[in-house]
Amino acid sequence: MSLKNKNIIIGITGGIAAYKTPYLIRLLKQSGAEVRTIMTSAATKFITPLTIETVSQNPIACEMFPDRYASTHHIDLAEWADLFVIAPATANCIGKIASGICDDLLSTVICATKAPVMLAPAMNTQMYLNPITQNNIEYLKSLDYIFVGPGSGELACETTGVGRMLEPDEIYSEIESFFRKKKVKKVDLANLPLKNKKVIVTAGPCREAIDPVRYISNRSSGKMGYALAEAANDAGAEVILISGPVNLETDANINLVRVESTEQMYLAVKKYFKNAHYLIMAAAPADFKAKKVAIQKIKKEKTNNSGQPLELSPTVDILSSLSKVKKPNQKLIGFALETENGVKNAKAKLKAKKLDLIILNSTEEATPFDNDSNRVIIINKQGRQEPLPRMDKKELAVELIKRIAKVK
Ligand code: CTP
Repeated sequence: MSLKNKNIIIGITGGIAAYKTPYLIRLLKQSGAEVRTIMTSAATKFITPLTIETVSQNPIACEMFPDRYASTHHIDLAEWADLFVIAPATANCIGKIASGICDDLLSTVICATKAPVMLAPAMNTQMYLNPITQNNIEYLKSLDYIFVGPGSGELACETTGVGRMLEPDEIYSEIESFFRKKKVKKVDLANLPLKNKKVIVTAGPCREAIDPVRYISNRSSGKMGYALAEAANDAGAEVILISGPVNLETDANINLVRVESTEQMYLAVKKYFKNAHYLIMAAAPADFKAKKVAIQKIKKEKTNNSGQPLELSPTVDILSSLSKVKKPNQKLIGFALETENGVKNAKAKLKAKKLDLIILNSTEEATPFDNDSNRVIIINKQGRQEPLPRMDKKELAVELIKRIAKVK
C-alpha cells in the first residue's frame, strides 16, 4: 500500500533499539510517506541526528525552543501528523505520556496532538513486566494508544526475554495496516443510506441505587456502543448517544446524553424515539432494582420481613416497551449476552422484543466486557445467522453499521 500524502512523525527515545529506527524511516520514505522526526536528548546518545536527518530528508526536532522556529513549534508538529510512531518507546517515555508529563519536545507534542499514537516498546524484561509499566500500558491502551510489540528474544543487557522492539519491517506492517483500516472505514461508510437519518445508540451499564453508597450494576464498558455511535456518525447519521456511567469520550458531532439508572435511560430513549429511524440498544440496562432505595446506608445486620437484606423488583425493559409503539419505518436493534444456548436464546429475544436484528455476543473464548475486541453472530428476523470473526470493536462497529443500514 502506498503511504503517499501520509504525514508520519517518528519519535525516537533513548534505547539501544534506536539503531534500527533509520530502517523504519527508510521503509516509510520508500512507500511515499512524509516523515518528520523528534529525538529525545537520550536518543541522540544512541544514534546521531545526522543519520536520522539523512534518511528522513527532513531536519530533526530535538529542542523545545530552537532558534530557527517560533515558540509554537510543538503545536505545529502536533497538528501536522496523521500518525505518531514512537520507536523505540522506553519505559520512561511510556510513563511520561501516561502521566501527562511534558518536559521535552517529544512528550509535549504527544500531549498536544489529536493524531493517533503508536508505540513500539523496547526495554529490559523486568522494566517491561514492572507493574507500573504494565499499568501505564493498560491505561494508555484504554485511551486508544496503539501498542505494537514488544517481542521476545535476546536483549542488549545479555538476557533473553520479552522487551525487544519489533523489527522495522514488522512496525512498518502495523503502520500500513493502521492506514488500510482507516481507509476501508471511510469508503465503506460513506455510501450507506444513513445520511441525516436519526440514530439512537445506547451504551454502557446502568446503575440502580440501593442506598446512598451502593448500587447494582454490571461489567459493561460501553466501548461497543461508543464505537457504533462513532461509525453511525461517520456514515452521516444524526446520532444521539444515551450512555450509562463510563469513562469514554465521543466525537463532538454526537449528541451525548448521560444517564445513570435504567429508568433514566428509558425516559431518554422514549424522548428521542418518536423521530428516530434506528434504535441500537448496545447498553446493558439492569434487569433488577432495589424495591425501595434506602435513604440511609443499610446496616449489614438489618433484614426485611423475608429475612433478606434487600428486596428487588424488575426494571422497565426498554426494547420491549418501545417495540409496542414502533412505526414500520423504525428499526430496533438489540444485543444478547448469553452464557449458554446463545443462538436459541438470542432468537427468543429477537422475537419477544420484536427486533429487526439481534447481535449475539460470544462469551466462549473471552468475555466481551472491557475487551477491545469482540466476536458476534448477527441474527435477522428470518433467523438467518451471520457469524463474524473476532475483531477490534471499532472495526466491528463499522461492519455492524453496514448491516444495520441495510435492514429492510
Ligand atoms: N434491554 C433493554 N432493557 C432492559 C434490559 C435489556 O432494552 N431492561 C436490551 C439490551 O440493551 C439488549 C437486549 O435488551 O439489547 C437484550 O439484553 P440482555 O441483557 O441480553 O437480555 P435480557 O432481556 O435482559 O434477558 P436476560 O438478562 O434474562 O438474558
